Formats: sequence, structure tokens, C-alpha cells
Amino acid sequence: MKKKIIILPGDGIGQEVTSEGKKVLEKIAGIFDHQFEFNGAMIGHEAIVAMGNPLPDETLNQLKNCDAILFGAVGHPKYDNDPTLKVRPEQGLLRMRKELGLYANLRPIKLFDELLGASSIKPEILKGSDILFFRELTGDVYFGERGRKNNQNTAYDTMIYSRYEVERIAHKAFVAARTRKKKLTSIDKANVLESSRLWREVVQEIGRQYPDVQLEHQFVDSAAMKLIQNPRSFDVVLTGNLFGDILTDEASQIAGSMGMLASASVGDTVGLYEPIHGSAHDITGKGIANPLASILSAALMLDISFGLKDESNAVIKAVESALKKGYRTPDIADSTTPKEKILDTTTMGDCIIKELSTRHTPVEQL
Ligand code: IPM
Ligand code: MN
Repeated sequence: MKKKIIILPGDGIGQEVTSEGKKVLEKIAGIFDHQFEFNGAMIGHEAIVAMGNPLPDETLNQLKNCDAILFGAVGHPKYDNDPTLKVRPEQGLLRMRKELGLYANLRPIKLFDELLGASSIKPEILKGSDILFFRELTGDVYFGERGRKNNQNTAYDTMIYSRYEVERIAHKAFVAARTRKKKLTSIDKANVLESSRLWREVVQEIGRQYPDVQLEHQFVDSAAMKLIQNPRSFDVVLTGNLFGDILTDEASQIAGSMGMLASASVGDTVGLYEPIHGSAHDITGKGIANPLASILSAALMLDISFGLKDESNAVIKAVESALKKGYRTPDIADSTTPKEKILDTTTMGDCIIKELSTRHTPVEQL
């Protein structure tokens, strides 16, 4: 299979982790005889520095003409500490999502058994948790009208959803629920917000087309509590952009660490694959970032964009096996992890490559 992949490292640890994701994709191409062509492009703070634009036209054109995107992260402390700056790295990511029509963000919260001890939540609560989030990604307060009035002294952001935006992601979530436990939890704040009442109304309507899927609704505040009280009570979760952003960071603790969580953004055209962790400037350049979220994002790409199930499973199995052997990056290590098993970013990447090598013989050597 021939595919054009754009690597979009972005800022902070984005560079370090996407290198490892790419390494794994190259290895998979070698083992399974695919031709993956890689090109790089700029986004975020680094693009602002180089071209004054967090999503330069060159980048957008490249993205519109590829088969899949492996993205790292955007962000820089400079902007976080100065809210008056008008051009910001995150605008690049948001515009990319909008321009590419990436309205559905899939965030699987899968806990590897080996990492039961890595979370701050009790193992008996966590064991067996497996949740698939569908976070709407191109609507909501992220893209509603915003501004200042009253002499700059009042600011507003509009939470807004249209019927079709809810319908299309609801269909995706119901279809996924059918392939899993046939249970879907839709999360909103319909007791207060009009946009949530439309959300609930539309999800109920779409739900009638999937009578085999058990549909329940929860308010976001109570869902946030239940998520850590009883994570096993969730299977497929459907929610809006802002609630999904917040709840998936919370849910990352179910998987042990943010450093383990991959995501896929899909919609009209090309798919984008990215860790849910951000640019993490506090650890940038130290070589200690966990590359497994990027590597698992690459696995999602193989499965969802290319339909390469075996290849995707090979990557997941390699990660599982490395964890079984006790290898950890610092974020998922605990007091029982021997020092020599705590790996830096590239060594963890190499470890996954080695796992792939021992389990698969490249086609040209057969
Ligand atoms: C995410 C991030 C982004 C978001 C930021 C960087 C704009 O937190 O992908 O979850 O809020 O969507
Ligand atoms: Mn987020």
C-alpha cells in the first residue's frame, strides 16, 4: 500500500514524540511491505516564529493533499502568560481542524493491565476500564462568536450547536457503540444550556435509528464525578467540544498517564492522529517524554485511515509486550520500577521497534 503521511511535530515535546511515532510507521512499512512517504510541515509557535502564521498556507495545502497526518502538539508558555497576544499557536490547531472538516475526535481510554498501579485511582476501581470518547471537534464555544464589549471590560464566547453538527457525530458514536457493548452515554448540561437541550433532543432522535444501542444521558458535572467513581460504567461516550476536552483529560488518569492517550480526528477527508497530551514545555528537550501516545496514535492511523488492522494490532501488541517486560518512561514508572527499566523517549521508541522485529519478519527476508 502506498500512502502519503505528513508529520506535523509542532511545539514542545511534539518534536520528540512524533519522531518515535514516525519511526514505528517506518518499521511497519518495512515489515508489511508498504510504501509510506513522509513529509514534514510547520504549525503552532514554530510556524509563528518562522512565518508569522500558526497555520501557514503551505502547511494547509500539504495537509489537503495527503492520506493521513501525525500531529504532535502546539503551545508555548509565552502565550499562556500573556493573554493579550492576538496570534496564538492554538489557532493553528483549531483552524486545521475546521478547514479539514475533522468534526469527530475519537479518544480511546484503554488501560493496559500492566499500568494498573500507575494511576492515582485504586486498581480495583480501574481494572477492566475501556471507554471510547467521541468529542465533537469543530463546533461549540470553540468556534462560536466571541469578543469584547463595554469598552473591553466585558468578554463573551458563544456556545452554539446546529442540528447537523450533532447528527453527524451522533451517527458515528452509535455506529461505534454497535461494535462494542451497545451502550452510549451522551453528556451535556441540558438542565441549564439551550445548546445542550438541542444536543439532547437530536441525540434522542438519532438514537431511535439504533434501537439495539442503550442510550443514556448524563449531565457533565455528575459525569465528571462518575468517571472516576465507576469508570467501568461507561463504554461509548458522546459529548461536545468543551466538555469533551475537559472530560478526556480527566479520563486520562484512568489510563495511568496522559502520556498513554492517543486520539484520532476524522470527518470529511483526511484523518489526523495525535496524542491528547499537549506541548509540555516543562519537560521539553529533557528526553523524558512518553512517546507511547504518539506511537499508539500511529496505530490508530493504520487502522482508521488505512484499514490496516493487522499492522495496527502489531503496534499495540508491541507496546503491550514492552510494558509487560517492565519498561517504562518516568511518567508511568512507580516506586517498584527498577532504574534500568526507566527509559528515555528514544530508547522507549527503540524498544517498541525491537518488539516489532522479534515478532515479525520483514517480507523481503521471507
Ligand atoms: C486538545 C487541546 C486543544 C483543545 C488545545 C491545544 C487548543 O487541549 O486537543 O485537547 O483544547 O482542543
Ligand atoms: Mn485538551
